[in-house]
Amino acid sequence: MPHDALWSGRFKEPLAEIALKFSSSIDIDKQLYEEDIAGSIAHVEMLAATRVISSSEARRIRTALNTVRKDIEAGKFQLTSDYEDIHMAIEQRLIQKLGPLGGKLHTGRSRNDQIALDERLYLRKAIREISKLVVQLQRVLLYKSEKYFGVLMPGYTHVQRAQPIMLSHHFLAYSSMLERDYERLEDCRKRVNKSPLGAAAFAGTSFPIDRVLVAKKLHFDGIVENSIDAVSDRDYLIEFAAVCSIIMTHLSRFAEELVYWSSKEFGFAHISDAYSTGSSIMPQKKNPDMAELVRGKSGRVYGGLMNLLTIMKGLPLAYNRDMQEDKVPLFDIVNTTRQCLFIFSHLLLHTAFDKERMAEELRTDYLSATDMADYLVRKGIPFRQAHEITGKVVAHCMSHRMYFGNLDLEILKEFSTAFEPDIFDHILPQSSVDQKQSAGSTNPHEVKKQIVHWSRVLKNRKA
Ligand code: ARG
Repeated sequence: MPHDALWSGRFKEPLAEIALKFSSSIDIDKQLYEEDIAGSIAHVEMLAATRVISSSEARRIRTALNTVRKDIEAGKFQLTSDYEDIHMAIEQRLIQKLGPLGGKLHTGRSRNDQIALDERLYLRKAIREISKLVVQLQRVLLYKSEKYFGVLMPGYTHVQRAQPIMLSHHFLAYSSMLERDYERLEDCRKRVNKSPLGAAAFAGTSFPIDRVLVAKKLHFDGIVENSIDAVSDRDYLIEFAAVCSIIMTHLSRFAEELVYWSSKEFGFAHISDAYSTGSSIMPQKKNPDMAELVRGKSGRVYGGLMNLLTIMKGLPLAYNRDMQEDKVPLFDIVNTTRQCLFIFSHLLLHTAFDKERMAEELRTDYLSATDMADYLVRKGIPFRQAHEITGKVVAHCMSHRMYFGNLDLEILKEFSTAFEPDIFDHILPQSSVDQKQSAGSTNPHEVKKQIVHWSRVLKNRKA
């Protein structure tokens, strides 16, 4: 049976059961019970400090709120869809326990500022957890970069073999991307960590409340100044969703690489059995499902972002009930991003990279063509001409089914007299990476610098 709504005074008939079922958000927002109770306790303590209620009243309400929390956790208080939302459920339970005194809790407050507060408290915690998972993945990347230091692989552009690179260099590119994700989360946290409580419905309240005191009690960095803004905007959720979407983009790109690197065609990566799945019909198969799911779940997070933007785009100020729908994408974004970061760290940890296969691919191609052209440039040939000559050498090799390794000086001289015996050392994959000189390049010294940098950064990071 539906409970009597706490707002039923001006109504002649109760809310239709189907209308309650349709509008109830408790199935979703019951996840916010801890935040809701913590917010109520801070609010009630402030009401006592500002003498809006007496301290003994505040104490009794606080004790009862703690009991409500324990009742929820012990399953003694069922949060069913007979309640409109988590706020109403908790308040009704409080009134059941305390009688009319329970009704004093909501003085100077509205569910509009209450839900905004709960979401900010929830998000603050989620950001902390997600940041930790980002750092955890960065640590795995650092570990892999150290473990595979010295291993060379073909680097790609347009999924075409381009130039030899260090595998560690490739891993560390993701560390840099994740670092920006970490910074974005930090930045987003600053805007999330402001208290909206005390905005009441939107215009403020006539009680002498102390918004700053509540904010301090709940460890906020301050208050959301404008009370209309405090209950109306969800830009902090949208920003967070955008940050998570970027994280998922990074994970999805890496996942895509693991998917094709683990194919027979590439054979660069071997995902351990514990993180692979079989086929129900093809006995020989071992599939990279974890990576595929991470790639696929990025769609859910992007969808959440679009969902939030669409909910908000046409809403006039201040609060509108549409905003209740924000929690479905919010929770999904948090859970999906958390799960994906977590599994990806484990997946990567349990993936071996095949040095020999990568070396073989480097041998049987023309990845040092840029180095050959650069060699000619050093002998005084303009780069454009050097590019043309090298292109002809490549075409010659291709039509004779051979690689750079099979060339001899006599053949090379036919393309340019500038070629000397030292060309052969010059175009080895190892020389190719060693010869890079620019900062942040694939030169082993530069890659080592990045490893040293990340060890220092990650060691000092508390996450
Ligand atoms: N369940 C509502 C939400 O999530 C709480 C605020 C309701 N406010 C109101 N005036 N009906 O947005």
